[in-house]
Amino acid sequence: MLKILVIHGPNLNMLGKREPDVYGSEGLDEINARLTERAQALSVELDLFQSNHEGQIVDKIQAAVSQCSAVIINPAAFTHTSVAIRDALLLLEVPIIEIHLSNIYKREPFRHKSLIADIATGQICGLGAQGYLLALQAAVKLV
Ligand code: DQA
Repeated sequence: MLKILVIHGPNLNMLGKREPDVYGSEGLDEINARLTERAQALSVELDLFQSNHEGQIVDKIQAAVSQCSAVIINPAAFTHTSVAIRDALLLLEVPIIEIHLSNIYKREPFRHKSLIADIATGQICGLGAQGYLLALQAAVKLV
């Protein structure tokens, strides 16, 4: 069975409570539940991971080498700062889908730069929580 790693970065555990006008009213548990339901329908296994810590995300990506068929990642604020997460993702030889709930290109200039975008297979942003389901669908098609 295909295994897809889903990584949620810092502060995404606060979804629902955090700036709902920007990120929507759905909590991370609800997003994960919808992803799990869709994964079952597509007969793929998901490894769902959230961390507020850069090093833990790097460790998780390293552990995924040769273990997963694709990665869906919302690096959250680390999108704009983390060379370490970028370098870890470069270890992978599987499709990488970068996702953002908000349209980072319509927001503050510091969010316009993603350190992941040029090494990702593709990027989905600005479509809210449904972006995760689209990312899952794309990941399954790509592998
Ligand atoms: C985000 C966008 C980032 O700029 C921000 O720091 C986040 C969430 C998004 O999903 O829209 O935490 O990745």
